[in-house]
Amino acid sequence: MRHLMNPLDFTVGELERLFDLANDIEHNMPRYAHACAGKKLATCFYEPSTRTRLSFEAAMLNLGGSVLGFADADSSSASKGESVADTIRIVSCYADICAMRHPKEGAPLVAAEKSRIPVINAGDGGHQHPTQTLTDMLTIRTLRGRLDHLTIGLCGDLKFGRTVHSLINALSRYEGMRFIFISPDELRIPDYITEMLREKQIPYEEVIRLEDKMPELDILYMTRVQKERFFNEEDYIRLKDFYILNRKKMKLAPADMLVLHPLPRVNEISVDVDDDPRAVYFQQAQFGVYVRMALILTLLDIHVD
Ligand code: CP
Repeated sequence: MRHLMNPLDFTVGELERLFDLANDIEHNMPRYAHACAGKKLATCFYEPSTRTRLSFEAAMLNLGGSVLGFADADSSSASKGESVADTIRIVSCYADICAMRHPKEGAPLVAAEKSRIPVINAGDGGHQHPTQTLTDMLTIRTLRGRLDHLTIGLCGDLKFGRTVHSLINALSRYEGMRFIFISPDELRIPDYITEMLREKQIPYEEVIRLEDKMPELDILYMTRVQKERFFNEEDYIRLKDFYILNRKKMKLAPADMLVLHPLPRVNEISVDVDDDPRAVYFQQAQFGVYVRMALILTLLDIHVD
């Protein structure tokens, strides 16, 4: 039995197979319509979500399976003090696979250790969000044709943004990558990530101004300032609109640069960018369904001929 806690849980070869499967699913949906008949996915979400929870549910429904679960801790027995370890023992009696989001870093790992079914980390605190990373990688691979030899700018809240941490980890295994970290000082990328890049001799830069770096980018990965991770509201208000990507700034970017965002967006991308063909963040959310379908099939070891 396999779980997914971190994108590095899959080898590069396994990821390639997963993305090939996701691309096949996209183009041949009817072939997969009954692949999970009789199987159940539990979504145990202790933190709010729109995309991750609903795309997991859509993925399982598209595969002919069923879904059950809770969308917030208050509507589960966590509100009465039940531990994650006990909860997953119970969920293992009711479902075949579980996607879990939790505000505490490591909570899905605790669940995986006690589980009788595969557990997928659907986001744990400011730590990791591996299925968002799979979504981001599938988007880049499908629309740019490769996951290597790319310059990727990551902009916004690089301190608390778990999608950023997961994506850098995953892309650091591909050749020719160059990272440009664009953030205010207070939201810089954590030291453990820059140390990892230095150890692997992967080039990176840390800058504050987005405009200066736009012409160099193959991918611009915008992020929201993570209000829910701030201890102090004043700091959030001061930093929340530090970056606003708009149509004027997009004129500085290469014609084939892609703009990704894990969403939800607040103000960091102006709506006037949405019609730009380089803005692929809504398409990215659609890729999230295909890759989660591929992931469910892979973890349940179901093969469709
Ligand atoms: N990208 C993402 O994790 O979105 P949700 O918080 O809506 O699931």
